[in-house]
Amino acid sequence: MEVVILADEREVGAFAAGRIASMIDKHPDAVLGVATGSSPQQTYRVLGEQVAAGLDVSRVSAFALDEYVGLPGDHPQSYHRVIAETVTEPLGLDPSRVHVPDGMALDLDAACADYEDRIAAAGGIDLQLLGIGANGHIGFNEPTSSLASRTRVKTLTARTRADNARFFDDPDQVPRQCLTQGLATILDAHTTVLVATGTAKARAIARIVEGPVQALWPGSVLQLHRRATVVVDEAAAAEL
Ligand code: GLP
Repeated sequence: MEVVILADEREVGAFAAGRIASMIDKHPDAVLGVATGSSPQQTYRVLGEQVAAGLDVSRVSAFALDEYVGLPGDHPQSYHRVIAETVTEPLGLDPSRVHVPDGMALDLDAACADYEDRIAAAGGIDLQLLGIGANGHIGFNEPTSSLASRTRVKTLTARTRADNARFFDDPDQVPRQCLTQGLATILDAHTTVLVATGTAKARAIARIVEGPVQALWPGSVLQLHRRATVVVDEAAAAEL
């Protein structure tokens, strides 16, 4: 695992965006795994600047990590909408090449299987960008997730629902379930780049980088990946 410690959020975003941009330069039809949350927003901003400066993303595909169950695609907090507003539109990706799990499907298990099929049909994910929850979750793989898990329905922990309540008018509106790529799905990506900033992430970063590989700290599974990079600012590195 490569651990890169930088001064602040701006440098973390610039580093991650640089990795993504050089991959797209080499492989114009790259498949990018994208994350929601505040952590990758600076990465998307810098990548947007690179696109404005001429980086060609017309053939890039993207797969989101996860989606809430039961939020329609036009709900402001559905990850369909969040990915459209923070990734697809600002970067100018072709919307037909951007995929998000279908949390409104009548048959959620079938939607998960279909999502795995779509990733496989695209040739797999070349670079998976990740954030991390304060409890160590990646995607929505909450503590105790199987290290061998594939895309599936998960129940959100009280901690994650509380963390994400800030995005909703009322904490009761935070969905209780989600669809998420599994830990094994994430490990299938050719390269992973996890970004984390701020003291609230320091404990999770120490556990996943220096602790044992264990389902209680799902991000620790990245220790098993041959090309995993963790990019943090000094605050998030404080417990390393
Ligand atoms: C969310 C997402 C994750 C994200 C994490 C951290 O619930 N499902 O993909 O990495 O929580 O979010 P943030 O970056 O806002 O702290």
